Amino acid sequence: MLDNIRRYLGTGLSALKPATDVPRPGERAVARHVAIIMDGNGRWATERNLPRVAGHRAGVETIRHVIKACPELGIEVLTLYAFSTENWKRPKDEVDALMWLLVEYCRQEVAELDRAGVRIQHLGRLEGLPALQRSELERAMQQTRSNNRLILNLALNYGARAEIVDAFQSLLTRVQKGELAPEAVDEQAITRHLYTGGLPDPDLIIRTAGELRLSNFLLWQAAYSEFWATPVYWPDFRREHLEQALEDFGRRERKFGAVPGTAAAK
Ligand code: FPP
Repeated sequence: MLDNIRRYLGTGLSALKPATDVPRPGERAVARHVAIIMDGNGRWATERNLPRVAGHRAGVETIRHVIKACPELGIEVLTLYAFSTENWKRPKDEVDALMWLLVEYCRQEVAELDRAGVRIQHLGRLEGLPALQRSELERAMQQTRSNNRLILNLALNYGARAEIVDAFQSLLTRVQKGELAPEAVDEQAITRHLYTGGLPDPDLIIRTAGELRLSNFLLWQAAYSEFWATPVYWPDFRREHLEQALEDFGRRERKFGAVPGTAAAK
């Protein structure tokens, strides 16, 4: 598990730091880390009398558009919620199709993503994925590890509660071995031991298809994230929707619990 977590350190993006800066008055907030709950694939397909997997396949096409747009829009980290720890409860056919889409995605896209400077990372319990999917992901991560134009976190077999449990297990092991004093287990230590350790918290979390919940996604990291929801189904989501989300985000006043303009906010 430690290996799984430590992968996220040393991202190569020198500018990355926790996103807790309060913008000065008049300053537009920049979303450096955008995380997306890609919802609505099933409804998109059902409304077209297509099998649900057709919606997931169309969703992969949307991923291509969004990844292309991210660096152009100043986004440094993109996190996509592709398969949750709860998604195993779906019908076997759908789970198999999603797992196969992942293999196809790795085989067809990684060379192009590599050329585009995208670094692929995995968030979640890698060991809980089937061997083929694990090895494809590991190969993708290995091949793209020195890229720094965009970090693409694929959350697969991911659950935020499981992530927090894994972080605590790692911390407890280190305390038991005497590597860490119990009183050193503070917010920073927990943050560093999450799958996202070393990355800034998401500035903006987008959810498509109209639902207004986090569904066990980045619960710790989302403490001060801005949330943006759209009724648009994920397969129909395009650059213009992302731009709209970023524009809305830029108009929000992020206070991180402080009063802007006072000494404590600096
Ligand atoms: C939610 O829509 C979507 C998912 C659970 C899977 C998302 C996966 C992809 C976009 C493609 C696979 C990703 C990779 C990287 C290969 P839903 O099925 O819950 O939609 P519904 O709520 O309308 O039924």
